[in-house]
Amino acid sequence: MTAIISFVSQKGGVGKTTSAINLATAFAFGGYSVLLVDLDPQSSIRFSVGINQKIPVGTKELFLNPDIPIADLVQDTDHENMDFIFSNIETISNERSVFKIGDNSKFLKERLASVSDTYDFVIIDAPASTNNMAINAIYCSDLIVLPLQCESLAIKSLKRFLVAFNELQQKLTDKNLRLAGILLTMYDREIEVHRKVSQQLYKALSDSVFETIIPRNEAIIEASAIGKSVITYKLNSIGATAYIRLMNELVDKFYLR
Ligand SMILES: Nc1ncnc2c1ncn2[C@@H]1O[C@H](COP(=O)(O)OP(=O)(O)OP(=O)(O)O)[C@@H](O)[C@H]1O
Ligand SMILES: [Mg+2]
Repeated sequence: MTAIISFVSQKGGVGKTTSAINLATAFAFGGYSVLLVDLDPQSSIRFSVGINQKIPVGTKELFLNPDIPIADLVQDTDHENMDFIFSNIETISNERSVFKIGDNSKFLKERLASVSDTYDFVIIDAPASTNNMAINAIYCSDLIVLPLQCESLAIKSLKRFLVAFNELQQKLTDKNLRLAGILLTMYDREIEVHRKVSQQLYKALSDSVFETIIPRNEAIIEASAIGKSVITYKLNSIGATAYIRLMNELVDKFYLR
């Protein structure tokens, strides 16, 4: 059975895309088969996974052309174990049409059911929002990862999200949707606020916060500038090591294959 893991956050710029790319790459390197799906109309992942974009279809067709099988929507990437569906919702009118379909919160869940035996993991990068696309990502997921920067304001938005997430979870009777964890990102131990906020979080929500912390790391920025995951770019960097630890923590914590 495929495990579907989504990176979700109402707040922008917290490391969702970076984490989705690097967790997917870590799984691919670890020998797992992975489908990475970019649900964010910003479409940034396509520049970071070495796709040769052989086919002009992507998330637009995923939502608007349910007759096209998922297998016809995936792009090859540099990694033999990783496929990718790129975001091609380029116009406002496309976005509106996709939103209409996404009004059915379970649309994506039903759509992805056809690959439930094809991949070990489906990793979804959701847009920074609680719009239809993000809700579709949550509904189809087994596990949600919530990236968070250690800033005071982040805690306020985290509380809001956790309340909304609990409500969603209760509505879902047919599936065991779980919060995989809160992932502290871009952490700098030299910054006092980072240290304080992380201490508060571990104290208040220890079970829900990953032990793995993603440090602020130059190699992650360099990798993204040249269109690579940090794992491909510099395997021995602290950024790459952190994402490999995250993969191991997830696998152990949730008894994944
Ligand atoms: N650990 C890190 N160290 C240094 N820079 C990082 C790290 N993680 C992410 N960044 C940088 O921070 C910026 C935001 O990261 P990212 O795009 O992953 O966030 P996001 O949550 O997907 O943003 P959006 O909400 O716009 O989709 C990017 O420029 C990225 O390269
Ligand atoms: Mg993003």
